[in-house]
Amino acid sequence: MPISVQQHQFHLQTDHTSYLFHVMENGELGQLYYGQRIHDQANYPDLTAREEHGAIPAWRLDRPDFQPETLKQEFAGLGKGDYRDPAFQVTSPDGSRISEFRYQDYQITDGKQRLNGLPSAFATGDDVQTLTVTLRDVVAELTLALQYTVFPHQDVIVRSARFTNAGEQTLLLDRAMSSQLDLPDANYELLQFSGSWARERHLVRSPLHSGSQSIGSLRGASSHQQNPAMILARPTTDENHGAAFGFNLIYSGNFLDQVEVDAFDTARILIGINPEEFGWQLTPGETFQTPEAVLSYTTTGLNQLSQQMGDFYQHHLVNPHFAQTPRPVLINNWEGTYFNFDEAKLTAIASDAKDLGIEMFVLDDGWFGHRDDDTTSLGDWDVYAQKLPNGIAHLADKIHGMALKFGLWFEPEMISIDSDLYRAHPEWTVKTPHREMTPGRNQFVIDMANPEVIDYLYDKISRLIADAHLDYIKWDMNRNITEAYSPTLPADQQLEFAHRYMLGVYQLYGRLTTAYPDVLFESCASGGGRFDLGMMAYAPQAWTSDDTDAVERLKIQFGTSYGYPQTMMGAHVSAVPNDQTGRITPIETRAAVAYFGDLGYELDVTQCSAAEKAAIKEQVAFYKAHRELFQQGKFYRLDSPFTGDGNVGSWQVVSADGKHAIAARYQVLNHPNPAYNRLYLRGLQPDQRYQIAGNDHVYYGDELMNAGVFIPHLQDSTEGIEESFDFSARLLVIDAVEK
Ligand code: DGJ
Repeated sequence: MPISVQQHQFHLQTDHTSYLFHVMENGELGQLYYGQRIHDQANYPDLTAREEHGAIPAWRLDRPDFQPETLKQEFAGLGKGDYRDPAFQVTSPDGSRISEFRYQDYQITDGKQRLNGLPSAFATGDDVQTLTVTLRDVVAELTLALQYTVFPHQDVIVRSARFTNAGEQTLLLDRAMSSQLDLPDANYELLQFSGSWARERHLVRSPLHSGSQSIGSLRGASSHQQNPAMILARPTTDENHGAAFGFNLIYSGNFLDQVEVDAFDTARILIGINPEEFGWQLTPGETFQTPEAVLSYTTTGLNQLSQQMGDFYQHHLVNPHFAQTPRPVLINNWEGTYFNFDEAKLTAIASDAKDLGIEMFVLDDGWFGHRDDDTTSLGDWDVYAQKLPNGIAHLADKIHGMALKFGLWFEPEMISIDSDLYRAHPEWTVKTPHREMTPGRNQFVIDMANPEVIDYLYDKISRLIADAHLDYIKWDMNRNITEAYSPTLPADQQLEFAHRYMLGVYQLYGRLTTAYPDVLFESCASGGGRFDLGMMAYAPQAWTSDDTDAVERLKIQFGTSYGYPQTMMGAHVSAVPNDQTGRITPIETRAAVAYFGDLGYELDVTQCSAAEKAAIKEQVAFYKAHRELFQQGKFYRLDSPFTGDGNVGSWQVVSADGKHAIAARYQVLNHPNPAYNRLYLRGLQPDQRYQIAGNDHVYYGDELMNAGVFIPHLQDSTEGIEESFDFSARLLVIDAVEK
């Protein structure tokens, strides 16, 4: 079984990893080991051995080697001699801030309960086990339950903490992280995924150093700027070799991922809700449950780490109704029309799209209130009669009549000053009393911590789902929170706002997805501003970035792939010159990048030339023929656009049986007399014979992986130059043959 307990020592085992901790002599929990699987033993004297350090106060004089500052702890507090950043902090009514959680008991259960009110992992199958270790503070009537669920086959452990006030006085929870991990050395590099709007999740890899390195958000959303996914890899670890830890948080709001390297070169990793702008009043009897952190480990490189974590999300986080379901090829009118459309325009786009093989039409922003630009109407989720006099249901009927699915855009969490909703309920807007409100994209945030708001939105959205038989909803969120404050909360609970806001968002998502299980949700926050596991639990795909330029997308999708499988990434072909960069790339390259995600088109197809339409038709047919491979195949990063001058990038998808693969190699600029080039494929069966489409030669898998495929330099004939070779993409379609 994945969890064994011996003499107050807990050993969580996955197929390839071990996670060990124990009850220390003071009753608190000590971390022992996390890494490659080791044999289960009654005790590990070597792992519990400690060094006595001069000048560091011991916990008690008769225990000279028990020096909290040097101990590897499982979930540490502050104030009893461990001066590293703590996993939690509680303030008692007298203002004191010391807690000492002592071991009480443990419980092992098969499977896993979902968390109440929070997105969380779930178990399917018999192999999953959950360990709950309960601790109790020696003074306050406060219990702490640390929960660990072991998913053996994906080498994943999910952790969270639950605080319960069993006493009669209200306590304040100032910090409640989801996971702490104390590693015995700091010889790691930190891989983070950072950027900005339209430039999300660029890989940044840097060595750990003494002190704290952290990534996080205080924007009320996980953010474009940083992502909760984080990796610690040995300096020699690359895509295909070496040890690495993967971390993520199933949460969409303010978060903190921190690594603190101390004086002894040990590393403490903390993951959870950002303690800044957080506080929670624990009234008698009340429980606070943290979000879940996801931990994983491998010794075989970053591709493996991404694949096993991605596999875990697909099987244990994403709505099973959609996890393995083919995602439709869609057309979205946003970049094609922006706010300027009417029913005739939309149906013309839909009709042409249908002819090209596209499967779903998505009506984006501008269909409600009196919205002609981004200054009005958010909150008024009723049709804009001037643009669509026959209503949304009528348009939906027409689209459905073309045998297309129909999807609709919402931005539920926002409100415009110029809206009937604001006029009726100005108190529903997030604002701080007596302070000016800071606009963002001319709009304001609605108070998702207010239950009345959730009911209003549920009513509006569900009515449209039912009336128009929506197949899909794009849930946008185009600004971050300022002047965070809710009039529904008393003054001494205002620090709860950011988390309560997220709980409101999750409640609305939960109600809608439960009532309408067949509606596919795509989450969006100005593109990739909330590309996180909290969202993925409800919306199985996300609009990866507002940047649809193929060259920019190469880095964005490559970086995103470290933390998330490609089936979570919405990827569209848009018109050129590109609206974000002005770049003109061939339509083949735009498609060759977008294939490696959930393909869509985002242009006015009625304006496309016959040649462009023919190209799109061919692309859609090609994608559909290989859809399972593109959306669900194992994703391998081959050549990183984050190395060297970033001119080349390549990746590959492989079927579960290793018999089908598609690799793509992208080159930004074409240089004369460039370096000699080979593409080394991955994930094939070494003894299997393969052919590459368009090439008669039969290769063994070992040749394709070890000797690689020659990639000739793009050059024109001597006849004169007919086209640019910049922004090129080459696709290799590889299939097993029985010759
Ligand atoms: C931002 C999204 O990312 C876009 O795709 C589009 O939906 C706009 N918002 C609409 O305002």
